[in-house]
Amino acid sequence: MQLHHFLLAIISLAGTVQSFWLADIPHQGLAPFAGANYPVFRNVKDYGAKGDGVADDTAAINNAITTPGNRCGKGCASTTTTPVVLYFPAGTYLISSSIIPYYFTQMIGDASSPPTLKATANFQGFGLIDGNPYWTENLNWVSTNVFYRQVRNFIIDTTAIARGLLRRNVVFNMPKGNGVVHVGLFIESGSGGFMSDLTFNGGATGASMGNQQYTMRNLVFNDCGTAIIQLWNWGWTYIGLSINNCGKGIDISANSNGKQEVGSITLIDSTIVNTPVGIVTAWSSSSQPATAGTVVLENVALQNVPVAVSGPSGTVLSGSSSSTTITGWSEGHRYTPNGPTNQIGAITPNNRPSALLDGNKYYARSKPQYESLPASSFVSVRSTGAKGDAAADDTASIQNAIDSATSAGKVVFIDYGLYRLTSPITIPPGAKIVGEGYPVLMAAGGYWSNIDNPQPVVKIGATSGQTGVVELSDFIVSTQGAQPGAVLFEYNLASTGTPSGMWDVHTRIGGFTGSQLQVAQCLKDPGSGTVVQQCVAVYMSMHATKQSTGLYMENTWLWVADHDIDDNANTQITIYGGRGLYIESTEGRFWLSGTAVEHHVLYNYQLANTKDLFASELQTETPYFQPTPNALVPFKPNASLNDPDFASSCAGVGGNCAASWGLRVLDSTDVSIYGAGHYSFFSSYSTTCSTVEAGETCQSRIVSIEGASSNINIYNLNTIGSLSMLERDGRSVASWQDNVNVYPANIAIYRSG
Ligand SMILES: *[C@@H]1O[C@H](CO)[C@@H](O)[C@H](O)[C@H]1NC(C)=O
Repeated sequence: MQLHHFLLAIISLAGTVQSFWLADIPHQGLAPFAGANYPVFRNVKDYGAKGDGVADDTAAINNAITTPGNRCGKGCASTTTTPVVLYFPAGTYLISSSIIPYYFTQMIGDASSPPTLKATANFQGFGLIDGNPYWTENLNWVSTNVFYRQVRNFIIDTTAIARGLLRRNVVFNMPKGNGVVHVGLFIESGSGGFMSDLTFNGGATGASMGNQQYTMRNLVFNDCGTAIIQLWNWGWTYIGLSINNCGKGIDISANSNGKQEVGSITLIDSTIVNTPVGIVTAWSSSSQPATAGTVVLENVALQNVPVAVSGPSGTVLSGSSSSTTITGWSEGHRYTPNGPTNQIGAITPNNRPSALLDGNKYYARSKPQYESLPASSFVSVRSTGAKGDAAADDTASIQNAIDSATSAGKVVFIDYGLYRLTSPITIPPGAKIVGEGYPVLMAAGGYWSNIDNPQPVVKIGATSGQTGVVELSDFIVSTQGAQPGAVLFEYNLASTGTPSGMWDVHTRIGGFTGSQLQVAQCLKDPGSGTVVQQCVAVYMSMHATKQSTGLYMENTWLWVADHDIDDNANTQITIYGGRGLYIESTEGRFWLSGTAVEHHVLYNYQLANTKDLFASELQTETPYFQPTPNALVPFKPNASLNDPDFASSCAGVGGNCAASWGLRVLDSTDVSIYGAGHYSFFSSYSTTCSTVEAGETCQSRIVSIEGASSNINIYNLNTIGSLSMLERDGRSVASWQDNVNVYPANIAIYRSG
């Protein structure tokens, strides 16, 4: 998947405005593989940008991106070695052609006074920020391999551009030429994750987007011709949209040669005001593919929206010229719990546990940016001696920085670097930690070498059930070499009031310089089931322990590398990570907003004996090497962690039964999943199995609900490459053939009862 955090806050602050701490702190980020004197942090004003609304700053900004250093631009596949945090102080930056953020660039504006990027009247180019240019006939970066980017705290202003100047390129890239002139956000392709806090004012289209899947939260559209056009998707979850005074809300009617292009959308906790048509669909009982254009709505308030949903032959769901709220509605296939029934109409909304709510909506919180704090409130890990050079042992220095900052009520700043840890570190209650451009903490040395004795690397809370709250953002936990006993995150805290939060905090297992798990060590060997021991990398990505509770996760990606990011051919590698995200919290109360867990051997997500869990657009991929070897190799199932053993449950099931579960739910209650994409594209590195023609035979089963589980709800479940879409206690509930969608198979509503 692709990792974007696009956070565009348009904020007006009353009172004193001080400059943003990120500008004022010492800049000590170190990219150990980028060459000497490589600056990670770059303030565009130090590179000649004026930000005065008069000078053309395009060249200065692009210069700050491209030099110094050997950055990853034209012809470069991807990199982890040359990160840049490109900082824009407050001001107005005139832009006359596209700003092109090279691979691993984060563009960050002053959060307390967001800078304006203003297009000049004679602007030439595809977009103000062109994240993936066509320097040749192809996108420069493979759209599904664009990782670790952010754009946040900007106002993007195209009001000076005369009508038509952007038109050629935009219309050129869109299947429906409907006179689009200005498009705020354009996404053509990729496998995305998460965006939030965007405001779109005016324009023909607010956002025009095609992608596999996304969670998008807190998007405001004012006075747009159409707020959102979906070009294509597999699944998409919108939370907290506010669409005001637009011609249309969301248009998902795209089709080509009589086939619909949009798989499904889920829209919850949103409002649409003064807009003639809320959602435009092409769904009908005879449309193709059978389940394409599926819509699920829950808690959508309308005010002066005469048509809530329209279809090819007119109104499908009436709205109101005054006010009404759609408590629940769907068009598509239902399994409640058996099916399919192909239905249009009202549904009973999910029974939402009050522990997950803020008013009548699900709790959510955007990434804290600490814009009201001065630079003196931040403690750099370098101040306690951490090196981040991928060589020194930084365990004690990092622990010291965390402890001293937290006890002084300050925020820990992890400057960019690769920090080796040789024993576990503990994040205590009260800690606030923020990274610069995704620094990496790596389990290293011999501490985690025993595959039969799992030990945490980063403990959040010292012991299971310790009370308190933490805020963590923008960093990665990894390993250096094989650490088969490593549990990268152990979440122990009981955050019983305000939840703890993890925003843009990830695991990355292998596939980068410094990991010693790259092409040289772990080149794929399709067809050979021989396990290279030095590529058995981790025991588990993340464990939420029994007494833990109250964690909000947003845009978190737990990734066992399938390819080497620093290999210019993106060569595939075989890395073994045992388990993905395991939640066994008895109190529950977890929010997984735009999370993904990929390529773990036994399962990606597993919930056991838990409750009260909200998720949007869960995304998983099965390891590409399976079934050579299958999911029972090289990790022995551990009964005390409720690992699947693929023994009795596989009896009588043919095909690739012992394959990683995308999602396994044991003895859990009150789980509501708003969008899920569980994908199995490969069988022993061949993609032939994941086609409709081949019968989706990559694996036999992919989602399982077992035991004393109740009130498990999944909206827009999408699966690829699995014969059975969903199992209940070892019995297949739904097959892909019954639910064919644009590429995945889709179920609009699943209810376990
Ligand atoms: C099984 O999991 C438990 C609980 O985490 C752990 O204490 C034990 O060491 C694990 N055993 C093996 C063989 O992995």
